[in-house]
Amino acid sequence: MPGVTTPALLSASVADHPVYPTWVRPARIRLFWALTAAVVAVAVLVALVWPPGLVLAVLAGPFAYIALVITVASWRLGPRGADLQRTIHGLVAAEVGPDGRLLDVGCGSGELVIRLAKAAPGGYVGLDSWGEGWQYSKAQAERNAVLEGVTGLELVRGSASHLPFDASAFDRVVSCLTFREVRDVADRTVSLAEALRVLRPGGRFAFADLFDDPGFYAGRERVLEALRTAGGRVETVSAVSDVVPLTWPMTLGRVLGDAGLVAGTKAPAA
Ligand SMILES: C[S@@+](CC[C@H](N)C(=O)[O-])C[C@H]1O[C@@H](n2cnc3c(N)ncnc32)[C@H](O)[C@@H]1O
Repeated sequence: MPGVTTPALLSASVADHPVYPTWVRPARIRLFWALTAAVVAVAVLVALVWPPGLVLAVLAGPFAYIALVITVASWRLGPRGADLQRTIHGLVAAEVGPDGRLLDVGCGSGELVIRLAKAAPGGYVGLDSWGEGWQYSKAQAERNAVLEGVTGLELVRGSASHLPFDASAFDRVVSCLTFREVRDVADRTVSLAEALRVLRPGGRFAFADLFDDPGFYAGRERVLEALRTAGGRVETVSAVSDVVPLTWPMTLGRVLGDAGLVAGTKAPAA
């Protein structure tokens, strides 16, 4: 199986504490505040020669709104805010229990898989594409594992749509806010089916994603149907907003308003 096992002696000197960025890309926050500032700056320059031109500053409104939404969302997801990212990881973790070899599809910084490995030592694999545009990297996940005292975590680069693992290779499969990001297939449910392919019959799965967002999925029913077709027995279906108190802007669809949790077991082989 391709992969790199966490080097036990990797120096911890690069950072002395684990780094777990939130699900909001800092580059997007910077981009929208920069666009806001640029439009206001243009309005001010125009106003210097033609004072009514200051009204052009209202064009910065949509950019400022998006910048504010994603800035506050990032803060609420993190430990200095409402720590929602950790709370949602906890919901996923609780669904799969502590036992058996586990795969985290789209592990990012390793936050969830490292937490699970710390709670119950065993076989753990984190897979991610670690593509451009994200603040996550394989080196970061490796470093976090070392700093958390987790050894033997296997980190594999690959795509959720074509997992480089044999069928039934895992006892547990989890994934958090990743399937909607998979761009190498048109239908996001391909990755859901792929995750179930590598789960052994009787094994447990738990996935959190924006399942109710029509921009990513053709309805929650379609998601459940894809899971059943792939052999999943769905036992839990909940909107994150039903189990975690959310305030603005987390209630917005593209933030966490459309987020759901689905979990269950894979049906035994016929
Ligand atoms: C919102 S982050 C979630 C990270 C992690 N699951 C967590 O909960 O902290 C989405 C992750 O999906 C990963 N990703 C994007 N496309 C992917 C693909 N085709 N296959 C695997 N991972 C992918 C990104 O690199 C990123 O780490």
